[in-house]
Amino acid sequence: MAMCAGIWILLAALHVQAGDGQMVQMDSSKSGFVGSQVELRCIFINSNPPVKISQVTWQKVLNGTKQNVAIANPALGVSVLSPFKERVSFKQAAVRHRTPSLEDTTIVFSSLQLSDDAAYICEYTTFPAGNRENTVNLTVFARPMTRMTLTTPTIVARASKRKMTVATCVSANGKPQSVIKWETRLKGEATLQETRNQNGTVTVRSNYVVVPSRETHKQKLTCIVTYRSERITDSVVLNVQYEPEVKIEGFDKNWYLNRQNVQLTCRADANPPVTIYQWKLLNGSLPSNVEIKNNTLFFKGPVTYDLAGTYVCDATNGIGTRTGIVDVNITEKPMAQGPPGGVIGILGGVVAIGLIVGVAVTVFMVHRRQQKTRTETDNDLTDLPPAHKPAPPPPKKKNSDMKGHLTSDDIQVVHLDKDEEMQKLPLQPPYYDMAPSELTPFTDKPNSGHKDCDVQYAELDTAALASSPSPRSSAHTGPGDLVETLGVIQKSC
Ligand SMILES: *[C@@H]1O[C@H](CO)[C@@H](O)[C@H](O)[C@H]1NC(C)=O
Ligand SMILES: *[C@@H]1O[C@H](CO)[C@@H](O)[C@H](O)[C@H]1NC(C)=O
Ligand SMILES: *[C@@H]1O[C@H](CO)[C@@H](O)[C@H](O)[C@H]1NC(C)=O
Ligand SMILES: *[C@@H]1O[C@H](CO)[C@@H](O)[C@H](O)[C@H]1NC(C)=O
Ligand SMILES: *[C@@H]1O[C@H](CO)[C@@H](O)[C@H](O)[C@H]1NC(C)=O
Ligand SMILES: *[C@@H]1O[C@H](CO)[C@@H](O)[C@H](O)[C@H]1NC(C)=O
Repeated sequence: MAMCAGIWILLAALHVQAGDGQMVQMDSSKSGFVGSQVELRCIFINSNPPVKISQVTWQKVLNGTKQNVAIANPALGVSVLSPFKERVSFKQAAVRHRTPSLEDTTIVFSSLQLSDDAAYICEYTTFPAGNRENTVNLTVFARPMTRMTLTTPTIVARASKRKMTVATCVSANGKPQSVIKWETRLKGEATLQETRNQNGTVTVRSNYVVVPSRETHKQKLTCIVTYRSERITDSVVLNVQYEPEVKIEGFDKNWYLNRQNVQLTCRADANPPVTIYQWKLLNGSLPSNVEIKNNTLFFKGPVTYDLAGTYVCDATNGIGTRTGIVDVNITEKPMAQGPPGGVIGILGGVVAIGLIVGVAVTVFMVHRRQQKTRTETDNDLTDLPPAHKPAPPPPKKKNSDMKGHLTSDDIQVVHLDKDEEMQKLPLQPPYYDMAPSELTPFTDKPNSGHKDCDVQYAELDTAALASSPSPRSSAHTGPGDLVETLGVIQKSC
């Protein structure tokens, strides 16, 4: 009952306050950035019958406690209290007079601080109507510092395939707090951490976590920070160093006795590039007629049975060593093609021979005809009537006819044969890739090598960054390459 009565009295009081036409007009909310200037409007609507304004008081309300900011009195003048003295003033010159006019007591806050974030009451004390007041909520924004950084300029893809943070995006000391999102084709995860500061700002930090690999190299990673309605984006391109991915090219399964100039090439995809290629023959030493140039084995002279064996190429870069392998066997005769291919091949051969003979014959005939006409014209230029000249066209026509006839029907067959051969090859690749994911009997050996490499990583991580002109990178990369990749990172950071 007592409570009901209390509420009724309150409502009645509110009614009285709102009534009689007098009211205090203010904005409901205002906002500004730290350091900016903001106006808090306060206008007294003094309708009939007019009342006398005894005093105007501005108060800051924080945590339920009120603090006086400024007071204006028609008799005593105006007063702005500390700590607002330096930054708060009445907007209207008339208010600052010795006998102020107090209809518009708007105040101006200059160089806003986070601590100004509060509600402000503008209260009019009047006679005989009593007090009239209104409130404005002042919100102070702090623009965050946003930046994205790569964890390290170069990331090393380790054999352990462990996840690691590759980039960090931070939006520091923002009010309100920012939202961080990532945009990338990488298959990674983002972590999120929020820190609330005492001054009401929030620092948001997100790490991008991924398993570095050959596939993640050169991938773009974009951090999107949304602060209020602003969108801030920053991108980096990952520079991932990885072990060589090795394959041996050159063995076409058709190395027969006395074939000339065969070769094997060790191809490796690696970052940084491969600096050392090492060739070995399993269960033996390389044949004596072999010449090694960079990543290629040139077999001088004709093929012999001595060339047979399992060839191994170790490719090494700053990150590690991986192995490519190919089984070479030697046949006595060129490999017979499969039955359909063979028939087509023979047919193609016959056609090709026919074509060559045909072309040769026509070339010969044209040549002879030209010689003949030339000798004729040379000898009897004046004697010969122009009637002789139309003679050459017929063989020419014949020639082109023949060629056209042959190409349309038969050259296609030769092409088909070739295509078929090319399609057959990928089914049985001439090399074994030693990627750890594909466990072949040989992986044991390179793996024992990985362990040694793991020990080196610690040194290499830092060494690789510092030493662009290191001898390691000089053999196959120009130092320029490394500088270029580092340059890319600096640009994008
Ligand atoms: C002002 O802020 C207070 C407390 O934060 C809130 O309850 C009130 O609704 C706000 N008023 C307006 C007009 O936004
Ligand atoms: C507001 O009140 C809370 C507890 O009610 C206190 O922790 C906080 O420090 C106060 N803030 C200010 C600015 O007084
Ligand atoms: C808020 O607090 C943080 C942490 O103490 C500080 O780094 C930042 O500069 C402050 N922001 C403002 C606007 O004072
Ligand atoms: C190669 O040598 C190993 C032992 O050193 C042996 O087990 C293997 O059979 C040999 N392979 C060939 C093809 O000779
Ligand atoms: C081997 O590499 C060197 C420099 O790296 C290059 O000048 C040379 O042409 C290469 N030789 C062959 C056969 O590729
Ligand atoms: C050569 O090796 C391939 C595959 O390793 C095998 O299919 C083929 O029969 C071998 N040829 C000879 C002549 O040993």
